[in-house]
Amino acid sequence: MKALVFKKPYEVQVEQVDDPKIEQPLDAVIRITSANICGSDLHPYEGRSPLDAGMVLGHENMGIVEEVGPGVERIKVGDRVSVPFNIACGTCRNCNNGFTSACLRANPSGNPGAGYGYPQMGPYWGGQAEYLRVPWADFNLLELPAGTEWENDFTMLSDILPTGYHGTELAGLKPGETIAIFGAGPVGLMAALSANIRGASQTFVVDKEPDRLALAERLGATAIDFSKVDVEEAILEHTDGFGVDTGVEAVGFQAHDHTGQEHPEMVLDNLVNVVRATGRIGVVGVYVPDDPQSPSPMAGDGRIGFDFGAAFEKGIRIATGQCPVKRYNRELRDLIIRGKASPGLIVSQEIGLDEMPDAYSRFDKREDGWTKVVMHPTAA
Ligand SMILES: NC(=O)c1ccc[n+]([C@@H]2O[C@H](COP(=O)([O-])OP(=O)(O)OC[C@H]3O[C@@H](n4cnc5c(N)ncnc54)[C@H](O)[C@@H]3O)[C@@H](O)[C@H]2O)c1
Ligand SMILES: [Zn+2]
Ligand SMILES: [Zn+2]
Repeated sequence: MKALVFKKPYEVQVEQVDDPKIEQPLDAVIRITSANICGSDLHPYEGRSPLDAGMVLGHENMGIVEEVGPGVERIKVGDRVSVPFNIACGTCRNCNNGFTSACLRANPSGNPGAGYGYPQMGPYWGGQAEYLRVPWADFNLLELPAGTEWENDFTMLSDILPTGYHGTELAGLKPGETIAIFGAGPVGLMAALSANIRGASQTFVVDKEPDRLALAERLGATAIDFSKVDVEEAILEHTDGFGVDTGVEAVGFQAHDHTGQEHPEMVLDNLVNVVRATGRIGVVGVYVPDDPQSPSPMAGDGRIGFDFGAAFEKGIRIATGQCPVKRYNRELRDLIIRGKASPGLIVSQEIGLDEMPDAYSRFDKREDGWTKVVMHPTAA
């Protein structure tokens, strides 16, 4: 098959590789219909999360079941399915507790949590390809209505819609509360959509990219451009000096100021300052324990120097981590089917596999109008 292969930082190539096959009785092989580029893919792309050459990238996958192993009984050949980015066994202690993001059996390294085409997540190839092998298929796959309707909406179910929702869940957002979301990338925008679903009374979205902020406004949020205003002052002014009830971090360790200079602690500090005393913060933006190119030696070891003292004094609750996609994807799918959520509105490009190297480079530069790239292997 053809697949997008990681060669070295800033170099990915479409190559002919071996077709994935059934390796275990509970496996399925999926023919990919849509696979997206994620902000998370940029961490290995930029060399900020070391990845071995030869890995097929892609953890945001959906498609049609092509083949199933002899132990698979629920999922059938021909089913249209969404593939959560977490690979989970379904039987370990963490899986049983709903933390498919921290499966204790799926990652041969022994670390909790596995995924497709990603550093530290096991040997599993990703789905920016024609086909994908899915372990423990009955447990992991989410069935979708047959056909091609809602393709660009359903493709958000493998990661960013559940992840945005998880941000609001970690922040404990309740109906009528206010929320400040940092980052208007795909994850931040999905957090804004989720804030609507959960009945936030006001949503602020902070970024500096005008196209992304415009999408946040389309979702009913108040856009705040950190290259133009003092973010903390702006949010406090909008909330009578009180601050927001909740906040979501959807930026991650490469947070930067308007000149592009990185400050890994910057957004966490902003959040601690704009969330009211006793409020809550959900951190879904990724922070890493090792960053070979960090601007500070301390942050290079994952030690982020944000104002924990102020957070403690204000009694703010902070929760973090990867999204356990299966906890939310079924209900989010049904919101799409019943017309209550349209996450596909953030799709900015639909491309074929051959266009992926160029798309990585442009998405990485956050070129204007490159918000969310969806790859269809069959597209010309
Ligand atoms: N927890 C999870 O399970 C999970 C899943 C998917 C993605 N992620 C992570 O979520 C983060 C966002 O993902 P994405 O796909 O939206 O990425 P992205 O890189 O496209 O978006 C990040 C946005 O943050 C903005 N930004 C940078 N500095 C900022 C600052 N100081 N204040 C406000 N905004 C700032 C950028 O302009 C950009 O638009 C990444 O770290 C990604 O790895 C986590
Ligand atoms: Zn992703
Ligand atoms: Zn498990």
